[in-house]
Amino acid sequence: MSAKTRIVLSSDHAAIDLRQAIAKHITEMGFEAVDIGPTTPESTHYPVHGKAAAERVASGDCALGIILCGTGQGIMMAANKVPGVRCGVCSDTFSAAMIRQHNDANILSIGARVVGEGLALSIVEAFLTAEFEGGRHATRVDMIE
Ligand code: RB5
Repeated sequence: MSAKTRIVLSSDHAAIDLRQAIAKHITEMGFEAVDIGPTTPESTHYPVHGKAAAERVASGDCALGIILCGTGQGIMMAANKVPGVRCGVCSDTFSAAMIRQHNDANILSIGARVVGEGLALSIVEAFLTAEFEGGRHATRVDMIE
């Protein structure tokens, strides 16, 4: 990913602080963070925010996305309902790189109640700096689609 690549971020109420920390971190890395909220702590519904981020990626407005909820699981399920989106939940850096390299994932999901901020930032870095390898992996991604 080149500098100023647009990255959409969204979450539910369980992950606002971590989402904002990630937005700051990726901005410092040179990416353009498109943080679509929410910004207030009232209880909200992760499917709404997963769909909103996924549509930004599916439309081409943003190249990649980072979404969060308590576990990362519910918002991932919602995002994956949008055609063209491939989203995986990661709690480790190896998986975060591999979902780009082998699965051409275009959205990363993180559980804010699962990983701490330091690990989350490393997971994000692994995801954003890895590249899809194509070849036999492209065949398999085409089969998903
Ligand atoms: C909200 O309490 C919680 O259910 C949500 O953040 C997420 O973990 C769902 O998958």
